[in-house]
Amino acid sequence: MIRWIVLLALCLSVISVTFDYPYEEHSLIDPKDMLSVTIPLIGTQHPLLGETVILPCYFEDHTVPDPGDPTITPLSHRIIWSHVTTEKVTTILVALEGQMSISSTYLDRVDLMSYPQTPANISIKISELRSSDSGVYCCEVQNAKENIIDTVDVHVQGVVFHYRPIMGRYTLTFELAEEACSLNSAVVASPAQLQAAYGDGFHQCDAGWLSDHTVRYPIQYPRVNCHGDKKELPGVRTYGVRDLNETYDVYCFIEKMTGRVFHVASAEKFTFSEAASACSEQGAQLATTGQLYLAWKDGMDVCNAGWLRDGSVRYPISVRRPQCGGGLLGVRTVYLHTNQTGYPLPESRYDAFCYTG
Ligand SMILES: *[C@@H]1O[C@H](CO)[C@@H](O)[C@H](O)[C@H]1NC(C)=O
Ligand SMILES: *[C@@H]1O[C@H](CO)[C@@H](O)[C@H](O)[C@H]1NC(C)=O
Ligand SMILES: *[C@@H]1O[C@H](CO)[C@@H](O)[C@H](O)[C@H]1NC(C)=O
Repeated sequence: MIRWIVLLALCLSVISVTFDYPYEEHSLIDPKDMLSVTIPLIGTQHPLLGETVILPCYFEDHTVPDPGDPTITPLSHRIIWSHVTTEKVTTILVALEGQMSISSTYLDRVDLMSYPQTPANISIKISELRSSDSGVYCCEVQNAKENIIDTVDVHVQGVVFHYRPIMGRYTLTFELAEEACSLNSAVVASPAQLQAAYGDGFHQCDAGWLSDHTVRYPIQYPRVNCHGDKKELPGVRTYGVRDLNETYDVYCFIEKMTGRVFHVASAEKFTFSEAASACSEQGAQLATTGQLYLAWKDGMDVCNAGWLRDGSVRYPISVRRPQCGGGLLGVRTVYLHTNQTGYPLPESRYDAFCYTG
């Protein structure tokens, strides 16, 4: 326990201070005689959701042992990879003497590919990247005397969303599904992207097309009618590859946007066409569903529902409150019917979400 607190303090101090800091502290020692750690990457890394990333990290140890100290062998260094966000510090793995211990939340998703064969190459591979993998990665090496860290920022890009068109539940052939995503600034999501979104907590009991022509849905809390092929186990359910003429909902993926989404309100609120005008008065247009999802992922939080370009009405919730979206996080959708189908009538009144490029 104490060790993790020390590690936390170390990792945080390196992030908040600046670099080359160990050298100043030991200014009387020739840097060539020391332990050094390098992540040879420049700037923030932007891998996509569901992808695999390799974060390279190398160390060199030129420490001259004091007389009587044990000699430094290639595998005698303790290697620690950790992940730091504003909320918490998580140890991903610890390696020592050729043995690796991976923390349970990362099991099957991370590997030091070159260790122990090449002990100084401690590059880490992380697969099935989730949004929650965004943050600072610390590569730390310890010998008997020192403890050196290098860090890199990673921002996992993109978001998967469930899409049901105005016609109702299960009305999209594969071709229509592609069109629906495209009209919402997105593409049909891949199985890896849906799996990653599931890893972030995505739960949706509606079967939707994926890019490989399979139909799947992500279930965290199995219940009757949502069991699929996994019975009572949580996980992504699949119907397998389907005939392209069958109809389902769709899971879309939007990678990024260049512009920005903003919320417009007025005392009387807007009909659908008034909302479109309200956006164009600001040199913008109604945002697409995909754009609203990306804005939500970047922290947008509005407790009032607003029109979007496809005629749907939604609102992004990033802060849990009982009176907004029933205490749930995510982009909430206002459906016409209680069975979660249909979009509000165009003359009904809501705010607007606009997008400017
Ligand atoms: C270090 O290991 C990684 C992962 O196996 C590999 O991709 C990379 O090429 C290695 N670096 C060098 C310099 O060999
Ligand atoms: C889908 O339906 C159309 C028209 O009904 C038909 O021409 C086509 O062969 C069907 N495609 C598949 C993959 O079944
Ligand atoms: C949902 O409710 C509407 C209106 O009551 C109805 O027309 C529609 O068939 C229902 N859809 C499903 C999938 O139950």
